[in-house]
Amino acid sequence: MSDSTLTSSDTATLTATLTASLTVEPIAGALGAEISGVDLGRTLPDETWDQIRRAFLEHQVVFFRDQRLDPERLKVFGRRFGTLNVHPFVKPLDGHPEVLPIIKEKTDRANFGGGWHSDMSFLPEPVMGSILYAIETPARGGDTLWANQYLAYERLSPGMQRLLDGMVAVHSAASQYGPDGESARNNPKRKGMEVAVTESAEIETEHPVVRTHPETGRKALYVNRPFTVRFKDMTRRESRPLLEFLFEHATREEFTCRFRWTDDAVAFWDNRCTQHYALNDYSGQRRHMHRVTIDGDRPC
Ligand code: SIN
Repeated sequence: MSDSTLTSSDTATLTATLTASLTVEPIAGALGAEISGVDLGRTLPDETWDQIRRAFLEHQVVFFRDQRLDPERLKVFGRRFGTLNVHPFVKPLDGHPEVLPIIKEKTDRANFGGGWHSDMSFLPEPVMGSILYAIETPARGGDTLWANQYLAYERLSPGMQRLLDGMVAVHSAASQYGPDGESARNNPKRKGMEVAVTESAEIETEHPVVRTHPETGRKALYVNRPFTVRFKDMTRRESRPLLEFLFEHATREEFTCRFRWTDDAVAFWDNRCTQHYALNDYSGQRRHMHRVTIDGDRPC
């Protein structure tokens, strides 16, 4: 029977079968869950997307294995959750401005994303989510870690929470993409990607140090080492001790999970309440990923 001859009761049965088989298994105590029983390359019913969204909001990062996502299908996945962002500083995939190739060649020494961060917090409206698809993974190494920023906030003392609740921080991309930044140092060690070095990365934007998640209503710590420069109305030197404490605290082991990549695996994470870290421990091996990011709103 072709799709065009399905009755409404057939469609209901098919929808029930497709949604019922989806399972969500947490992978750690702090955050992260693996979803199985879904083929993201197919046209899925709204109920399945709703289940994925609920799992994403509950677990903050969700993983899928054995998917086939060409750039078009990856964009279809991303667009279920919002409009797609075009990275201001990294050369995209030819013909797909929204798709970022994240590649470390066998001979490269530097990787991309090799430090705890929240994607593009330097934007006035930072990206809400990122979807990373593994095309080629090393035999060993190249895992990614995530840290739960709700927990990071909740485990602070009431006094520190009260102090931070009223504070605003300044974010900028300068330490990564500015003339004295990470790209300027590491581009010669990272031939797999084309990453800009530009003075326009020095533009600053302000965000609350503690943000309230627009969908869950929970409070999350929102500072990260590469992009948070200082507190508003304070110098860098004055800001440094408290920022250093927060950077360390935010990524304590008990707030983290770790994902072991396999070819065709996918991770979908919420940048509003997590940080992540791409480990660079696979010297001599190639790692090739595609990433799309979903536009977000102004943190408040
Ligand atoms: C990133 O989005 O920061 C890269 C993560 C990774 O390659 O594992």
